[in-house]
Amino acid sequence: MKPVEKLLSSLHPFPPQEDFFRAKARRIAYGGARGGGKSFAMRAKLVLLALRYPGIQILLLRRTFPELRENHINPLRRWLYGIATYKDSTKEFLFPGGSRIKLGYLSEEGDALQYQGQAYEVIGMEEATQFTESQYYAMTECCRLAGQMQENFTPRMYFTCNPGGVGHAWVKRLFIDRDYRGGEVAEDYVFIPSTVYDNRYLLKENPEYVRTLESLPPLRRRAMLDGDWDVFEGQYFTEFDRARHEIVPFEIPADWHRFAAMDYGLDMTACLWFAYPPDRSRLVVYREFNEPDLVLSQAAKEIRARSEGEELRYLTASPDLAGRRQEGGKSGFDILSQGGLRGLTPADNARIPGWRRVREFLRAESGEGAYLGIFPQCRNLLRTLPRLTFDPVKTEDAALTPHEYTHAPDALRYGLSSLPFLPGDLKEEKPVVRDLRAEFFGKEKGQRGYYGFFKK
Ligand SMILES: Nc1ncnc2c1ncn2[C@@H]1O[C@H](COP(=O)(O)OP(=O)(O)OP(=O)(O)O)[C@@H](O)[C@H]1O
Ligand SMILES: [Mg+2]
Repeated sequence: MKPVEKLLSSLHPFPPQEDFFRAKARRIAYGGARGGGKSFAMRAKLVLLALRYPGIQILLLRRTFPELRENHINPLRRWLYGIATYKDSTKEFLFPGGSRIKLGYLSEEGDALQYQGQAYEVIGMEEATQFTESQYYAMTECCRLAGQMQENFTPRMYFTCNPGGVGHAWVKRLFIDRDYRGGEVAEDYVFIPSTVYDNRYLLKENPEYVRTLESLPPLRRRAMLDGDWDVFEGQYFTEFDRARHEIVPFEIPADWHRFAAMDYGLDMTACLWFAYPPDRSRLVVYREFNEPDLVLSQAAKEIRARSEGEELRYLTASPDLAGRRQEGGKSGFDILSQGGLRGLTPADNARIPGWRRVREFLRAESGEGAYLGIFPQCRNLLRTLPRLTFDPVKTEDAALTPHEYTHAPDALRYGLSSLPFLPGDLKEEKPVVRDLRAEFFGKEKGQRGYYGFFKK
């Protein structure tokens, strides 16, 4: 038997690996958990491409050289013995038909620059969550036709990945959350999940490895064994569980109480709409609005348009808006109120008690599941809440960076801090017949409740 035939007949992919081999999209990711046959699948796919398409140029990347050597150079040298020549000085396998698999590593942020101007029809990134987003983007620029192939071929990138690592967010956004921006098109991205339980070879030959994964601490186990992308080390809200908190949307009954909470900054306006039944037996976040670069009057207009026909009891908003901040001596609240928003009240910005409240709401159960339910439409909240990390200095607080992750959770915190009850406090609330004028009367400017319905 020729070496190529021998190699091909020795590869027996298991079902998710087969799906990975067959996938045709421009960006194909595989894995999501430890031991799911990722490194094997990546190696095998690249070799299959090199054999199938003469002249194809392939680049395989890992984060560090020792990983590259152990996971790929050594095994590939065994597989390709008698099939392709390995050139150690350039770390590449050269195939007789002109195909080439080059191996590289990007240990420093700037290491991607060395590939600038180079072209590869196929790029593989192993353990993609260990690469930064900018390294990923730099490599997408190299993924194009190199000009030595006869056949039509769409350049593409293959990824393997586990949750966690510097690249967790971009990999999760593209392949798990499928939240696309700018020129990104959903059809270009495919994710094929696999866990150790799919890997019959490992289960049979190395059951201790499976036991090691099974005995990891609970959060790490959820990430590495079950491939749960919502948990990672340093996570602030480990209470968040998308399977519990994201709920099937429903028509909010007419007697439910509604209110909204807004975190405002010029970089981002983030507003959430809440509703709860009169007996306070649960709370839902039923809508979100996020938009960068809005001045206050535009923010007011957008929020008003989205609340049309709904009776919001109040809108609690970033407390700094109550101070005089705009020219002409107007406060942010004046401008919002001129824009037609009613019931404005400055949010309670005590961060740590506020986050504790968020934790309590996330943990609580109601008769039908989680007490706090979030409609799928609130994509940004669902995406960023599990991404918040602990502040490295003020250890009980959430980190302020990446800033992009803080807006929707801040709005949630404002909303929950505004409630006069905690999840356990069941009490029948009557429809509002409160005299808001009396309630707000006599309050100092800047105090909660100053801007009441009586404005205008
Ligand atoms: N199709 C296959 N045929 C034979 N052995 C396989 C196959 N797929 C995976 N294996 C074997 O299973 C073991 C684990 O596979 P692999 O290293 O590819 O998993 P991984 O997901 O990369 O693991 P890790 O998370 O540790 O990086 C290896 O010994 C590998 O050779
Ligand atoms: Mg691996």
